Amino acid sequence: MSKYWSPVVHGLTPYVPGEQPKLANLVKLNTNENPYGPSPKVIAALQAEAAETLRLYPDPNSDKLKATIAEYHGLHSNQVFVGNGSDEVLAHIFHALFQHKDSLLFPDITYSFYPVYCGLYGIQAQTIPLNEGFEIVVDDYMRPNGGIIFPNPNAPTGIPLAMSEIERLLKVNTESVVVIDEAYVDFGTESAVKLVNTYPNLLVTHTFSKARSLAGLRVGFALGHPDLIEALIRVKDSFNSYPIDRFAEAGAVAAMQDVSYFEETCAKVIATRQYLTTQLNLLGFTVLPSGANFIFARHHAYEGSVLAEKLRAHNIIIRHFKKPARISPYLRITIGTDAQADCLIEAFRSILEF
Ligand SMILES: Cc1ncc(COP(=O)(O)O)c(C=O)c1O
Repeated sequence: MSKYWSPVVHGLTPYVPGEQPKLANLVKLNTNENPYGPSPKVIAALQAEAAETLRLYPDPNSDKLKATIAEYHGLHSNQVFVGNGSDEVLAHIFHALFQHKDSLLFPDITYSFYPVYCGLYGIQAQTIPLNEGFEIVVDDYMRPNGGIIFPNPNAPTGIPLAMSEIERLLKVNTESVVVIDEAYVDFGTESAVKLVNTYPNLLVTHTFSKARSLAGLRVGFALGHPDLIEALIRVKDSFNSYPIDRFAEAGAVAAMQDVSYFEETCAKVIATRQYLTTQLNLLGFTVLPSGANFIFARHHAYEGSVLAEKLRAHNIIIRHFKKPARISPYLRITIGTDAQADCLIEAFRSILEF
């Protein structure tokens, strides 16, 4: 606390990211990174970029990246907004599109950055409980609101929501912006991008951090109607003209263009998710259906916090959320390689004395 702080700072409860431990030899399954490195073409593009041009500012409009993303998704460049990770894109969305009189709606169990942005930008929020099966019920969002946001698949549950349900919501909710945060969509969940040309109040956000294995590069984007994109550009250009540096643009373009590497590595993650789910079921875990690169699982006999601590003694880190109470029995486990899955299964066998 300091008398020099702006008033808003006193009331902030910042987001706490998953641990990035400095220790070597850890099986790191706690922050949903991709176990396979980025495409070799990305590495080549980054090396080519490490040249004399670094003394020059990057393109403030990231035109090449926007054109590449637009082409991949069959849209126009003016329907694309890019930012320094999808977290920054989301921050601009909250700032530009959710500061209204009516409350913003999002699930009670979801990405925990959403309430943080509400605190930062003074946005009233109303959380909508997931049902008993931890599913989003779209009928509960059909009420007056200043905006709606949820991830699909949801985090940290991993449960996907059917596209027909999203469309049912969009048909009714025409007076505020609906944001579908598709950070994990490429691991087997249907994307709402195909609805962007039909619903002018729909924004879909994506990231290069997960399926394209570039969490360290910090690139994310939003797709939507040019009017929504313009609002984001206004906020961005009132904040930082150059959120995408030269490396980020070169690497992200190369990643987007290497479709076969992307498809191959996503398929591997999905296969390992299936394998791990089957093995955990055999060990007495309930695993929620996942359309993401992580699973949410609970053991019938052990508390989540106890298992998390015991796994750490085996040099394995996963994510455990103490709150809200209804998710505290669960562990969120990132899908790694098959070898990492085997390591985890072995550790559980030893902990559970199977
Ligand atoms: C649901 C969801 N949205 C957005 C993000 C942000 O991703 P990034 O800022 O790395 O693009 C995350 C990160 O874990 C996430 O879980």
